Amino acid sequence: MPAISATAPGKAILVGEHAVVYGQPAIAVPVEQVRARAIVKAAPDRAAGEIRLQAPAIELDARLEDLPENHPLAAALRGVFKELGIARPPAFDLRVTATIPAAAGLGSGAAVSVAAIRATAEFLGRRLADEQVSRLAYEVEKLYHGTPSGIDNTVIAYRRPVYFVRGSPQNLIEIISVGRMFTLAIGDTGIPGPTAITVGEVRQGWQARPEHYERLFAAAGALARRARGCLEGGDLEELGRLMNENQVILEKMGVSSPDLDRLVQAALQAGALGAKLSGAGGGGNMIALVEPDQAERIAQALRRAGARQTWITTIAAASKGEENGESRIQRGA
Ligand code: MEV
Repeated sequence: MPAISATAPGKAILVGEHAVVYGQPAIAVPVEQVRARAIVKAAPDRAAGEIRLQAPAIELDARLEDLPENHPLAAALRGVFKELGIARPPAFDLRVTATIPAAAGLGSGAAVSVAAIRATAEFLGRRLADEQVSRLAYEVEKLYHGTPSGIDNTVIAYRRPVYFVRGSPQNLIEIISVGRMFTLAIGDTGIPGPTAITVGEVRQGWQARPEHYERLFAAAGALARRARGCLEGGDLEELGRLMNENQVILEKMGVSSPDLDRLVQAALQAGALGAKLSGAGGGGNMIALVEPDQAERIAQALRRAGARQTWITTIAAASKGEENGESRIQRGA
């Protein structure tokens, strides 16, 4: 049996990180230039149920049965077996690799889960819907940090720009009908910014000064609503201004850092339309909205300002049906 392979992109949050955990809208886009890949190979010489997991980047080489319940990769696979009603899957090897830096705000954890879930389900003869993949990956996200909004697993499973509102019992997930193609230059500080830590710090801040933080969350949510209009209408100048305003709010939340601030300033000085940290912050990556013909120059400015790595990614305009207002609207996990 040939090996089965699945990949998943990284993600960037255009507007609304952290506030999204508290029920405000946020916008995220897939970043196709970085990816997680999962490869599944049958192991017919082993007994059914014997599954081996390998992830060289984290020096993992273990049997599934030896991994604890809360191990993210093990949990992803167990979630697939449960979803498919398979008690004893045939033996296989699963190997995961990624070009997405870890703890960098680019969704590496969710991308690994999505790739592993898709490859495993396909190996078992089933193709899961985006909604199912996202829901299963969300369960794994909870192991990384207790209160994920669900935006990372959503944008990575759907691979489309999403307007996302965390809800109870259901999230609102709307695929944004992008009116005009746009380009982002992404700069990596090279400093890890684990989501669990920054999300925990924001929670502490919110518990200590609820009114202050709720004002910041509401302001970020208002920016996300306006940013959606800019994306649909193709007003990139205004989108850039909103991203700058979002950066100020994130600084007030205490999740930016001197390295992030330096890269944001370098991008703006080099002519970016807007720039902000993206993801949890504390380190990790920032994004700059750029004119396509300026992208390489701004990426160079980011590297000169200390970015360890840069990427340029383009988000395409919506296809015809979507332009007519037929953007997919989903309510799901
Ligand atoms: C992480 O990519 C985005 C945060 O808002 C956390 C979350 O939404 O779960 C910081």
